[in-house]
Amino acid sequence: MSKALKFFLFAILAFGLVFAAGCGGSNDTTTEEPEEAPAEEQVEENAAEEEATEEAGGVVNLYTSRHYDTDEALYAKFTEETGIEVNVIQGKGDELMERLDREGEATEADVFITADAGNLARLKEKELTQAVESEVLAANIPEKLRDVDNEWFGLTKRARVIVYAKDRVDPSELSTYEALTEPEWEGRVLIRSSENIYNQSLMASFIELNGEEAAKEWAAGIVKNMAREPQGGDTDQAVAVVAGEGDVAITNTYYIGRLINSEDPEDVKVGEAVGVFFPNQDTNGTHVNISGAAVVKHAKNVENAVKFIEFLTNVEAQEVFAEGNNEYPVNPEAEMSETLKSWGEFKEQDIDLTILGENNAQAIMILNEVGWK
Ligand code: FE2
Repeated sequence: MSKALKFFLFAILAFGLVFAAGCGGSNDTTTEEPEEAPAEEQVEENAAEEEATEEAGGVVNLYTSRHYDTDEALYAKFTEETGIEVNVIQGKGDELMERLDREGEATEADVFITADAGNLARLKEKELTQAVESEVLAANIPEKLRDVDNEWFGLTKRARVIVYAKDRVDPSELSTYEALTEPEWEGRVLIRSSENIYNQSLMASFIELNGEEAAKEWAAGIVKNMAREPQGGDTDQAVAVVAGEGDVAITNTYYIGRLINSEDPEDVKVGEAVGVFFPNQDTNGTHVNISGAAVVKHAKNVENAVKFIEFLTNVEAQEVFAEGNNEYPVNPEAEMSETLKSWGEFKEQDIDLTILGENNAQAIMILNEVGWK
C-alpha cells in the first residue's frame, strides 16, 4: 500500500470522514458545489488551537469551492507538518469570487481554490491574484497547467470524455467529439447547459485547436443531436444515459469515478452501466481541465499561502487527490489511483490552459449563437 493511500485511509478513520456528496449539482455555474447547497459559509476554527498554532506557524486563510473530505484531511496534514492553521471558507466559486472582489484590500483570504482554468483566468483578470515565484511549484506542475504569469496553479486534472451506455453503444462506434455531430447520433447526445464553465472551456479549447468556424459548426451539430434540452450537472447526464434518455454524454471523468466508488448501490449501478471513452485519440486529444489555486492579491500571509499550495502539489498530496476524488494528479511523479488506472492512458489536448480564459468570451458568444441553452 502506498504511503499516500495509507495516510488517506488513516485520515478517513481518524477524522470520521465519509465521502462527500457529488459536486456539479443541477444548474450551478461553477460546478464544484454539493448537490445540496452548503450552509452560507463554514468557517473552521478552534480558538484555543489557533492561538497555539499561530505561535508555531501562523495561519493561512482559504476560500475554496471544493468541498471534499479528502481536501480537509490534506489541510489537517499540512497543519500537522508545518504548524500553520488552515481556516476554510467554503462556498460556490462565483459567490466567493464576488466576495473577494467586494472585500478588496480588507480581505482575509490568502489562497483561492476553484475548478476550471476559465474561472482561474477570471480571477486573474479581475486582478484578485498575485504572481508567485516558486521553484517547488515550477518543478511539481507542468508548464501548461499553470498561468503564464504564475498567478494560478493547477492542483488536479480532469478529462472531459464521452460516456456511453454499455448495453446500447459499442465503443467502436465512437471516435471524436466531432463525430457526435453526425446524423447517426441525432437525438442521442446528452450534455449540460452552456452556462457551465466546463462546456465553455471545452469550446474555448476547440476555438484554439480547430478555429472559430469549426468550433461553431461543432456546437451547432451537438445542439442538433441533443437528446433533450440541457439540464442538470455531469452526474445527471450519466444517470440519463442509463435511464435511456440518450445513449452518450459528455462529462468529466471524476463524476464517473465517484459513482463507481460510491457507497450507494444505485450510484454504483449507474457507474458500472456506462463506459468511459477518451475521444480524439487519433487527432488532437481529449480535453483536459484543472482545479487550481491562486495566492490572493491582498493576502496577509503570503509565505504560508505559497507553502500551502506547494504542499498540495507534492507527490503524497497528489495521490490523496487521485485516491479520494478520482482526479488525475498534476504532478507527473504521483501515482494514479486504481480507478484512474482502469481507464487507461490517453492522449491529452496539447494546449496551454491559459488559452481557456483568453477564449472564454468568444466561446460563450458562439454557444449563445447556436442556441445551446
Ligand atoms: Fe465538478
